Amino acid sequence: MSAARKSRSRNSRAGAGLFVRAERAAKFVLARTRLRPRIGVVLGSGLGAFAEELAGATRLDYSRIPGFPVSTVESHAGQMYIGASGGVPVAVLAGRLHFYEGYSMDEVTFPVRVLGRMGIRALVITNAAGGISPDYRQGALVLIRDHVNFQGTNPLIGHNDERFGLRFPDMTRAYSDRLRHIARETGARQGMSLAEGVYAAVTGPSFETPAEIRALRTLGADLVGMSTVPEVIVARQMGLEVLGISCVTNLAAGILDQPITHEEVLETGWRVHTQFTALLRGVIPPIAEVLK
Ligand code: HPA
Repeated sequence: MSAARKSRSRNSRAGAGLFVRAERAAKFVLARTRLRPRIGVVLGSGLGAFAEELAGATRLDYSRIPGFPVSTVESHAGQMYIGASGGVPVAVLAGRLHFYEGYSMDEVTFPVRVLGRMGIRALVITNAAGGISPDYRQGALVLIRDHVNFQGTNPLIGHNDERFGLRFPDMTRAYSDRLRHIARETGARQGMSLAEGVYAAVTGPSFETPAEIRALRTLGADLVGMSTVPEVIVARQMGLEVLGISCVTNLAAGILDQPITHEEVLETGWRVHTQFTALLRGVIPPIAEVLK
């Protein structure tokens, strides 16, 4: 068999099984809680406190959920929490899988597929990002208005199972206007004025060069990061409404005359996590309201 045929048949086998695996994982999770969340939340690193404060939560290690990708590192890949925030049931993914870790796109997006099969209707997705727009300060929270996919691949490549959604899903309004409106109002009530921006996804794990940041700025990006876009593509294919929020953990490469470090990203994330979790807590009840 030619290499191309072999790889095509491998793809289609993986694709055909994906729906069944997502369905099985969703049933497994729902059998362990009486809650039936309609809102999912993907937490970027450092936001675990939001999951910890959920009321009446069921916590499942990814390693316990059938079909979840096995961690490539020693530590736990993450946990799913199903609990209540402000009286509203939510399913929270604490810990995400990145393409740069060597996971396939199917693996990176599997947890969101499972949320979709659990009956989630809206997905709140958070991340750390480098700020390209001169309007952003370090530590700012920015609502994602649109994205540019520079990861060089797409999670929907391969066999398409129509039970997930369309072969060619529309991405015109990938990020919901009404959920962004809710977030803006919630932020304003909490004393935060939230900017909006276009998020460019790159694979990493190296940070960008200053020339790459100039190129991304020219191409319309305000933020740059190594996650989110695959999950959003899959969420949109499944018909979920998406709210994306970035924390500008650092100014992008070349804006300041200093190197970017992972420590800086973590430190800024930590510095604003109280504000970030307050915003998350604040948006859940009004989102639940519009989903009714
Ligand atoms: N570039 C890419 N990803 C990031 C950055 C960055 O500057 N900061 C946080 N995630």
